[in-house]
Amino acid sequence: MRSSHESHRQILARLVLQINIASAGSTGHMAGTRARENYGGYGSERQDEIFLNGLSGEKPKVPLTTVDLEAAAKAKLPPVVFDYIFGGAGEEETLSANREAFRRRTIIPRVLTDVSHRDTRIELFGKTLPAPFFLAPAGMQELAHPDGVLAISRAAASLGLPLILSTRSSHTIEDVAKEMGDCLRWFQLYHGPEWNLSSSLIGRAEECGYSAIVVTLDVQVRGWRERDLMHADSTLLRGGGTANYLADPVYRKEFGVPTEDGGVKIRKNTWVAAESGVDLRALKMLRERTRLPLLLKGILSPSDAKLAIDYGVDGIIVSNHGGRQLDGAVASLDALPAVVKQVDGKIPVLIDSGIRGGPDAFKAIALGARAVLIGRPYVWGLAVGGEMGVREVMQNILADFDVTMALSGTSSVREITRDFISHA
Ligand SMILES: Cc1cc2nc3c(=O)[nH]c(=O)nc-3n(C[C@H](O)[C@H](O)[C@H](O)COP(=O)(O)O)c2cc1C
Repeated sequence: MRSSHESHRQILARLVLQINIASAGSTGHMAGTRARENYGGYGSERQDEIFLNGLSGEKPKVPLTTVDLEAAAKAKLPPVVFDYIFGGAGEEETLSANREAFRRRTIIPRVLTDVSHRDTRIELFGKTLPAPFFLAPAGMQELAHPDGVLAISRAAASLGLPLILSTRSSHTIEDVAKEMGDCLRWFQLYHGPEWNLSSSLIGRAEECGYSAIVVTLDVQVRGWRERDLMHADSTLLRGGGTANYLADPVYRKEFGVPTEDGGVKIRKNTWVAAESGVDLRALKMLRERTRLPLLLKGILSPSDAKLAIDYGVDGIIVSNHGGRQLDGAVASLDALPAVVKQVDGKIPVLIDSGIRGGPDAFKAIALGARAVLIGRPYVWGLAVGGEMGVREVMQNILADFDVTMALSGTSSVREITRDFISHA
């Protein structure tokens, strides 16, 4: 009797909720696991979906708050891997500064505006994106989940979100292209001392439909990451994220294929190739090498932004690598306004480092970023639930962004301007 009483109550509650959802103008239909052209309105749909599932006792599979998400990932991962993903360089001052910079800025909402229809789309390099979000390049994904970047690619494609594939990925440029089909993807290059290897990697990305090349500048050497050093565990050196190298004809010719006894040599050379110094001579060569849009990731100084423009670069990603490289470096969000001012609308400026939810993305866009890159949050999603986990995390961020737009009084990304930001 008791259970039938409860199920009647549940049915009644479901009907009431469905009527409420219908009268609020939403279908209540789960729409998140297929790619959308526009995530306007998704904030309400996602909440409806979660609350409707809750009526049958189903809770979100992946935690929503950053703290709980990190804790869930920590419970799944060996300490050396958790610390590798979580950690920053040195005393982790820059890691903290990235979050502090978002906290210091607050949103001044407008409330006398019609926000019943929202448009989250943006234009970038002649393409329309459903929302101003990219999945940041994060290497060695197989440490977090055996499906590695293939799971990430599937999740990104199912939501229509672009992925920036790391050079140091678990699977190759070609395998990821197969997974992603028509979905927008860029390739992130670590340019090492072997020009022919960089050239070959760029060629492979071009062949496989990657539509921009992102050159990461801030890994001239590995950062001083004390957590990794404290573990003194070779997991991180044991050849993770080498798929692109080992499948590369230039790499194979130069360094050979891995064998039991050749492991050390291969490993060393792989690290050398990942220490990625780009001086102006290399920048000129990279610019001449590809006709694809070329972006530089890791710029924090307006002087470097000026050089980027002088050398014909098409876009800048303001980033301190999530606080993983130079400890003591300025927070990305603090560096953004001066870079935007220097660039003066000539090329798009994107940003990453510390973006955890919709309001952070809103603040970055208000301060002049065209789009934002999500890093650690989706890697935690990968650790917790593979493809599903990445999708859940990104869906929550998309929904949160739509809600933030509405509650701030904006109905399109274009309307998000500096006027919405108050400096504490
Ligand atoms: C585990 C991990 C691996 C990363 N690997 C790369 C990489 O291969 N190439 C790259 O350009 N950036 C890499 N990054 C940096 C990210 O692209 C991005 O700049 C950073 O995650 C942003 O900081 P956030 O995650 O705190 O938001 C990595 C970051 C993490 C956490």
